[in-house]
This record gives sequence, C-alpha cells and structure tokens, in this order.
Amino acid sequence: MKRILVVGAGGQIGTELVPFLQKHYGYDNVIAADLKPAVVERLSRTAIAMTLDALNEVEYADTVRRYRIDAIYNLAALLSATGEKDPQLAWKINMGALLNSLNIAKEYGCALFTPSSIGAFGENTPHYKTPQDTVMRPNTMYGVCKVSGELLSDYYHTRFGVDTRSVRFPGIISNGAMPGGGTTDYAVEVFYHAVKYGKYTCEVPENRYMDMLYMPDALDAMIQVMEADPSRLIHRNSFNITAMSFTPKQLFTQIQKRIPEFSATYNIDPVKDQISASWPDCLDDSCARKEWGWNPRWGLHEMVDDMIRACREKLLRGEF
Ligand code: SER
Repeated sequence: MKRILVVGAGGQIGTELVPFLQKHYGYDNVIAADLKPAVVERLSRTAIAMTLDALNEVEYADTVRRYRIDAIYNLAALLSATGEKDPQLAWKINMGALLNSLNIAKEYGCALFTPSSIGAFGENTPHYKTPQDTVMRPNTMYGVCKVSGELLSDYYHTRFGVDTRSVRFPGIISNGAMPGGGTTDYAVEVFYHAVKYGKYTCEVPENRYMDMLYMPDALDAMIQVMEADPSRLIHRNSFNITAMSFTPKQLFTQIQKRIPEFSATYNIDPVKDQISASWPDCLDDSCARKEWGWNPRWGLHEMVDDMIRACREKLLRGEF
C-alpha cells in the first residue's frame, strides 16, 4: 500500500483530503503535516499528524525518508486575494513549498500532486469554454506562481522523470474548514451567513461568472488523477476541471428558494473584482474527461441542498 504525505493538511482541502485518503489507503498510510502547532493538535485527534514547515527542505526531506513516503500532496499556499496583500510572501511560500516538493520527490522517487487553479489564467485567456491549452498570462502573484508551478512540474517530469500531476481547481465549496483569502470564498461564506443571520454581503460583482466544484468531486479528482494510467496522460500539469459555473446572483437565488428570508447585498472589493474579471467564466474540461475519466457528480442544486443541510447541522452543534 502507498504511503502518503499531505503538506498543508490543515487547510480547506487538506482537512477533508486526509480522512478521504485514509479511507482509500488505510489510516496508517497517511501522514498529515501542517505548519501551525494548534492545527497539528486538531489533526492529531483523527490522523497521524506532525508539524512541518514546507520551506525547511531538510526537515521536509527527513519526514519523507522517515515515513518512506510514496506520494506527496503539496497543498501549502497563499490564495489569490491574500497573495495581492503581500506578493513577495506569496511567491516565497507558494514557490518555495513547490520547489522543495519537486526536489524531494525527485530525490526519494515520490509521486507529487500540487493543485493549480483557474487563477493561472488571465485577461487575454478566452473566457468562455477556456481550452486546456491556451494563453496563460495571469495578473495576480497567485496566478504567476500557478503558471510557474505548472511549467516547473512538467519540467521535472520530462527532465527527471518525476511523476508530477495536477488539476486546475476552480472555487471549491465545502463545509469542513473555511477557505481563506481566495476570490471564490464568497460561495462558501454565504451558506454560513445565510443559515445563521439570513443575510450576506458579497464582495464579488453579482453577474461575475466563475467555475466551482463541490468538495466530494474535488477529492475524487485528486485520487483519480494520481491513480490514472500514465500511458493515457497526454497532459500532466495541469488539467482543467469544473462541475458548475454561476454568478453570485444565481447562487443567491438558489439559496433564497430554500431560505426565503435570506437576502444579499454587495460591497465590491476592488481587488476581488479585478481578479475575478480576469478569470474564466467557464472551463472546457474535456481533456480531463478523456485522459483520466473526470466525471463530476455534484451540480448547483445538489450542492446548495447539501451545503444548507451541513451548515444547519454545524450551527445546531454550536460550531460557528
Ligand atoms: N479559490 C482560489 C482563490 O480564489 C482559486 O484557486 O484564490
């Protein structure tokens, strides 16, 4: 059985990826690592967990050697809006964690998954049915890191034979840990506000389309791409994937249908406005479908039903 290391395990994705991998590969074969001791303390209740700074190459390599890791999921990164507050820090963390992951994967023969994003695209990219292979000139530091990361990951594959694979995630909607500092975060936050306060103030313009994915599909995507038959992969870093595309207004209408007293107002954040305007409206994910069988199960309606149910349960348990 494979042994897996999840780096940045306490974030929005890692919090749900760790138990999902445990189910798939066995509890003992998944190591959850995060920078923050308080987060590691939380993770250690349900997983083998440890403190790890992904920027510390010696400590990182030592972990991979000690646990005889076969595959790394490198999730350590600052998201798009936070990245614009401190672009140099975003570069340092996002590229530093990636470079260490690549070098360690090369040294110890690990497979490596690093998420890319719709943030890898920019204003000049075709926005409708954005092709797999197209213009990528992002104007955020987050996007610059994602494009650089895709190129580096492909380079390490062709030059050194490292088994690097990736998907370009759209906004991920989930009810485990909150996302932080992303432009698509509104599509998660709104559910918590809708069930608790019946109202929400959105920082993204009401008619701005962006691709989205519900967490169960995001989890399937990661394992599927990592387990895909390599002889079928024409692409590696990175695959367009999506399950739905909607505007804030369309999402809020669906919430109102289920929570009639819910109302939304807008207070546009200029940074999120600019970032979201530069991103695709909807991606063409046909290469992922063809090369490794990507086939999402959750659309807008099912996702909205499930998020409201999950957030209501969390509220009843006093979790927020
Ligand atoms: N969810 C991310 C963000 O908004 C996009 O990859 O930054």
